[in-house]
Amino acid sequence: MASPPRVLAHLRDAITSVIIAECDGSPFIGYVGDVITSDTINPALLHRGVVGGGLDTEVFPWIITEPHRGWMGEPGIQIRRDNELLPVHCTLVDVSQKQNTVHLTSTDEEHAVTTIITISLDESGVVRMNAKCTNTGTQDMCIDSLKMLIPVSGECTEVLTLGGRHAMEAIETRHLWQRSVIAVNNRSGRTSHEHMGVVFVGTQNFSEQSGSVWGVHCAWSGNSSILCDSVTDGLRVVQVGELLQPGEVVLAPQETYDTPDVVLSYSPHGMNGVSHSFHRYVRSIAGPQNRPIVLNTWEAVYFSHDLATLKQLASEGADVGIERFVLDDGWFHGRRDDTAGLGDWWVDEHVWPHGLGPLVEHVNSLGMEFGLWFEPEMVNPNSELFRAHPDWVLGSTHRQNLMGRHQYVLNMALPEVREYLFQHINTLLSRYNIAYVKWDHNRPLVGGAAHHQTKGVYELFHQLTRAHPSVQFESCASGGGRIDMGISQYVKRFWTSDSIDALDRLTIQKGVSKLVPIEMMGSHIGAKTCHTTGRKHALSFRTATAMFGWLGVEWNLLSLQPHEKEQLQRSLSLYKEFRPLLHSGDYIRCDHPDNSIHVHAVVSSEASEALMSISRLFNIGSIRSANICVPALDAQSEYTVTMIPNGTPRWALHRELPEWVKSSVQVSGAQLMKQGLPCPPLLPESSVLLHIVRVSS
Ligand code: DGJ
Repeated sequence: MASPPRVLAHLRDAITSVIIAECDGSPFIGYVGDVITSDTINPALLHRGVVGGGLDTEVFPWIITEPHRGWMGEPGIQIRRDNELLPVHCTLVDVSQKQNTVHLTSTDEEHAVTTIITISLDESGVVRMNAKCTNTGTQDMCIDSLKMLIPVSGECTEVLTLGGRHAMEAIETRHLWQRSVIAVNNRSGRTSHEHMGVVFVGTQNFSEQSGSVWGVHCAWSGNSSILCDSVTDGLRVVQVGELLQPGEVVLAPQETYDTPDVVLSYSPHGMNGVSHSFHRYVRSIAGPQNRPIVLNTWEAVYFSHDLATLKQLASEGADVGIERFVLDDGWFHGRRDDTAGLGDWWVDEHVWPHGLGPLVEHVNSLGMEFGLWFEPEMVNPNSELFRAHPDWVLGSTHRQNLMGRHQYVLNMALPEVREYLFQHINTLLSRYNIAYVKWDHNRPLVGGAAHHQTKGVYELFHQLTRAHPSVQFESCASGGGRIDMGISQYVKRFWTSDSIDALDRLTIQKGVSKLVPIEMMGSHIGAKTCHTTGRKHALSFRTATAMFGWLGVEWNLLSLQPHEKEQLQRSLSLYKEFRPLLHSGDYIRCDHPDNSIHVHAVVSSEASEALMSISRLFNIGSIRSANICVPALDAQSEYTVTMIPNGTPRWALHRELPEWVKSSVQVSGAQLMKQGLPCPPLLPESSVLLHIVRVSS
């Protein structure tokens, strides 16, 4: 019988404990969940015993599962030399801990492999895990898989995943996690619209505000895999890592493969608690930022670029309170529509005979910043770049490439490609006063290999952000296609979705906000008739939806009636008034028993103030609905609740509105949290905004 398990480390903060242990020379996570407040951990509770019908060996949920240690599920490590799969069997040789970070070094001398796993409990409350694998031999070796395993509570019976399609991203799907394997496998080469690289596993009926929940994210912008497996071992485990194609990663002697970070957050209080740690973590990476209101030209003029019109648009923007003017797709060489030009990153000399200078200067003279669109990783066959370097296209040597939006993907692993892109983008960022880059990526990759591509993209981001530290980069991949904590090292904003339909956006933003703080979600007020869905929405509804994000405007302001312009001015001032609260407070998605009612709020960290929005999504067979409980206030304090003027709410048939709607009311925090406000009789696709302010404690 092997030696009994040994505790190596117990990381904890006020909410979470992580017990790291080892047995028979291999590390495993013995526990991650509710904080264990005792200083001693008895390893006896890690002992699992040996069961009949199986091996005579005790098997643990090893962090890197090795088939040769008896793990029957998905292997955590798959390595080949000379095309032979190696029976890797690493032994722990060193454990070091500095505060809340533990390094675990293991080696397999026979097969010349060393792994180092790092686990840390970050100040934000997230657990970060990473593994490095080095080829210590004298021959090349292929890494086909290196994933890490996290056991969660046996009481987790449900899994929530997020995914959708272009212009309808991050939709929640709840899976019953019985005896099953639930897989989130993304092979699209970018983070994707279909599979956000995050799962929430939790106890029965876990919700936004209740239940024990573990959120697990793969911080990577390429292919990734998350498996929730309750079949292999009777334990409930989540295994996460990059989804590699066999042969994709070949390590020469002494080279190292580094996994993406796995970011885990636990909360005993539902998904909001998980998100709060995720948000704190992402905020700590982004640092404090100015988040000016953007006017984006895409849905205003599309490819019709003309200096006089754009200058007028900018002037109108300045008038209504816009703070940053962003010139979207269509400004560069040969780009008159989406069939040509990508790759030729210099200003089109026909449309812009004097360069972008006259527009940038005009924008700056109005007190606004200037931003510019790029799609660096792409090339149109109809471009100077493609004609000069057809060999720079990803995968071009093997077979006829598939096109997406008339474009190919550049091979970002090639230093000359990165150098070309760096030079061209750097020239523009140096020549013009550019405060912001919208970085697009409008097609998936084919062929399954995305490791070197993703590394190459990160490298280019790294170079550009180092050369231009004050420029804010936005991650846009047709909206919503590249939202993850890998790219968040470089970007300050995500373009959340190409749909700016205020109704769909409530669902999309609810999903995306589970992972990233709302102030990083680009959220625009669009035209009255939404371009992607054809729905018409009142400006008050479009405003209320966009306020819970990094607000922008994407609307041809030259087409506005005077009253619309005034309303938009009011919308933008309202947002500016609440921006400090919205961008620093705790964002809370509120549970409500009626799924036609959408409620969310931002509460300041000291619970002195909150902004809440209540919306009706669709009609149901009743006008009334359950009360709206206001979360996270101080029970002992008194608050005023005031409806914020934001156009006229669209009321359903009623004789008299509830008291609190007609005028401001003063109520205790305890009553607001427990009894809640009577639900206002809203019509579908309308919202009310409430300002809740502490008056005494
Ligand atoms: C897709 C983006 O999501 C849009 O906002 C816009 O930038 C277009 N690409 C431009 O081609």
